[in-house]
Amino acid sequence: MKSSLPHRPFIHFTSWLKPAQRTAFELAGTTAHRIASGPGGWVERLGDDAMISHKDDASLDELTLGLENWAAESGWQPARVFARFLPLKSDERISPILRSGDAALPLKTVVTEASTRYGLDFAAGYSHGLFLDQRANRALLRSFQPKRVLNTFAYTCSFSVVAAMCGAETVSVDLSKKSLDRGRENFALNGIAEAGHQFYADDVLDIIPRLAKRGEKFDAIILDPPTFSRGNKGRRWQVEQHFEELINAAMELAMPKCAILLSTNCTKLDPATLERNARFCAKLNRRTAAYVRTGSLPDFPPTHGASTLWMNLR
Ligand SMILES: C[S@@+](CC[C@H](N)C(=O)[O-])C[C@H]1O[C@@H](n2cnc3c(N)ncnc32)[C@H](O)[C@@H]1O
Repeated sequence: MKSSLPHRPFIHFTSWLKPAQRTAFELAGTTAHRIASGPGGWVERLGDDAMISHKDDASLDELTLGLENWAAESGWQPARVFARFLPLKSDERISPILRSGDAALPLKTVVTEASTRYGLDFAAGYSHGLFLDQRANRALLRSFQPKRVLNTFAYTCSFSVVAAMCGAETVSVDLSKKSLDRGRENFALNGIAEAGHQFYADDVLDIIPRLAKRGEKFDAIILDPPTFSRGNKGRRWQVEQHFEELINAAMELAMPKCAILLSTNCTKLDPATLERNARFCAKLNRRTAAYVRTGSLPDFPPTHGASTLWMNLR
């Protein structure tokens, strides 16, 4: 008999990580990963703690109950559970709130990814310090064994840390000095000395031409800009409008065989659109490239996480 239930694609349900996948993360030296993803939000394991990101109260209730069941089944109990509301407008973003666990524990903690250490801060604002959806890209960067890496929109410098762990020199650029200071702390957490690593608290769009003027070249460049921002002198950045300009500017700094990561959270720029943009820029700059889409992550359903593409110049 034909079901009268409407067809619901997979993403309309919250999917929970299988206990065996949690064990696999643990064995890989990774204590920062998603536990659940669904239409109303998601749950992350962050070291000893968990954080629920939710769109409304009903989703918070569903994910809280789901986390309790998942913890009982998987044998991993979070020391604390934080919750973060996901507003529609970015100016309504607030820090996570402690829902359960010891309020006297420090709000700064450390997580690991492939045994690399990253500091988190639940009091730093809306974002705790590590974008988990970039795990595959950090692993790819490591596999390239780069020598000189430019990390633009570096935030807490996770890509720079991975590159530095491979022995690369790095240049990290972000408007926020506070984020770069946290990046420096991430270097220290991994025992990396700062020699050979530069941190510019400045506008990427001003720094790139300066680096080009000095003849600086890189064999890996990370371009992971926000959807909107205001840069130096109130300059408006809008990713859909300006990404090609950024790719063209970055190509000036690219050594032959440079790997350029293009990444965005803007839902209008899917990997196919990114590839069209990148091909257009390559043609304009008379360069050829291989275009590599990042593989999927076991803890991120297809429509969750940033759109990313590697443009590997020849
Ligand atoms: C999406 S986050 C980057 C995440 C980072 N790639 C990572 O994986 O951790 C965007 C960052 O861009 C920075 N930013 C925004 N506009 C900027 C600009 N014009 N120049 C430099 N940094 C900028 C913000 O301060 C923020 O840290």
